[in-house]
Amino acid sequence: MRTDGMLKEGALDGQTIIITGGGTGLGRSMGEYMLELGANLVITSRRLEVLEKTAKEMEDNHGGKVLPVQCDVRHYDQVESMLDKAEAEFGQIHGLLNNAAGNFISPTERLSHRAFDAVIDIVLKGTTNCTLALGKKWIAAEQPGIVLNITTTYAWTGSGYVVPSACAKAGVLAMTRSLAVEWAKYKIRLNAIAPGPFPTEGAWSRLLPGDLVKKFDPAKLVPVGRVGDHQELANLAAYLMSDYSAYINGEVVTIDGGEWLMGAGEFSHLEKVPKEMWDMLEAMRTKKD
Ligand code: HXC
Ligand code: NAP
Repeated sequence: MRTDGMLKEGALDGQTIIITGGGTGLGRSMGEYMLELGANLVITSRRLEVLEKTAKEMEDNHGGKVLPVQCDVRHYDQVESMLDKAEAEFGQIHGLLNNAAGNFISPTERLSHRAFDAVIDIVLKGTTNCTLALGKKWIAAEQPGIVLNITTTYAWTGSGYVVPSACAKAGVLAMTRSLAVEWAKYKIRLNAIAPGPFPTEGAWSRLLPGDLVKKFDPAKLVPVGRVGDHQELANLAAYLMSDYSAYINGEVVTIDGGEWLMGAGEFSHLEKVPKEMWDMLEAMRTKKD
């Protein structure tokens, strides 16, 4: 396992990248590495004070320019105004990382319709708002663009207890694949990343609250036996955001140590069979032969 930066120095020189939800968690980690690689960043979310603190720390750590802009992605007018501020500061925007999300665990029948909306509006509507608003600008100005969407592996398997998130992330994946084809003629590329468990305060506090983190250690569900390191995700995101990945379009790249496949494999639970039992089973088979 390596947790150092993977791309060449300057791989994102001169690129301006917008990261929604860029003040915390994975958005921050991916942004930090993109900054290190030479990009200018616009980080956005609802809490300006969080963004401002993060922007300052990022600039202090890596140099470069990070513009914090308050923007609730659920509102199209706020997205348009955020894009105007980004353009006023940097001129051309090159990339959009749709990372903002909302999520929590609950039996679905306990949810109010407002709880469903809370997640769908941030994840699906937020992602479509940003993609549509920026896509229209790119197309009108005949500029190329790269969109990278953060989805998850249950976008295609579905998952109980996070149903609003599963519906919304599935929608994000459908949009990624659809527009990758439709907008390729405008030199706009779209891809997605489906991360498995990567510890963040935001995700862990909502998905593994209280004692759950002790009862359901996420590392135990991953064949490689551990959770992800933020730099591993940042390396992938920076590559997909760079021109090195120019021939990758409409793809969703899973980075989960094999977690979802382990859940899907009919006999994967045989992992629990101890060596002695395999020895016994083999002996029984040999006897018959
Ligand atoms: C049931 C809940 C709830 C919960 C809120 N609601 N939390 N219902 N269980 N835990 C209900 C409320 O009662 C309310 O309905 C409605 O949802 C809206 O709640 P608000 O608090 O007003 O919503 P809002 O302020 O918009 O906050 C959105 C949020 C919040 C999603 C609820 O958690 C948030 O801001 N999250 C942002 C960050 C985040 O979630 N990060 C984790 C991403 S992790 P009523 O009917 O009472 O009005 C992730 C990982 C995926 O996505 C994959 C992992 C492997
Ligand atoms: P996080 O730190 O909670 O990130 C979510 C971000 O979204 C926050 O910065 C939040 O900032 C922002 N946000 C929420 N609502 C918003 C809104 N209406 N408008 C603008 N911004 C909003 O959690 P994370 O774990 O880093 O998650 C980042 C991404 O990775 C998400 O897409 C998540 O689904 C995905 N993911 C995470 C994991 C994991 O294991 N951590 C696994 C799979 C996928 P404000 O509250 O300030 O608005």
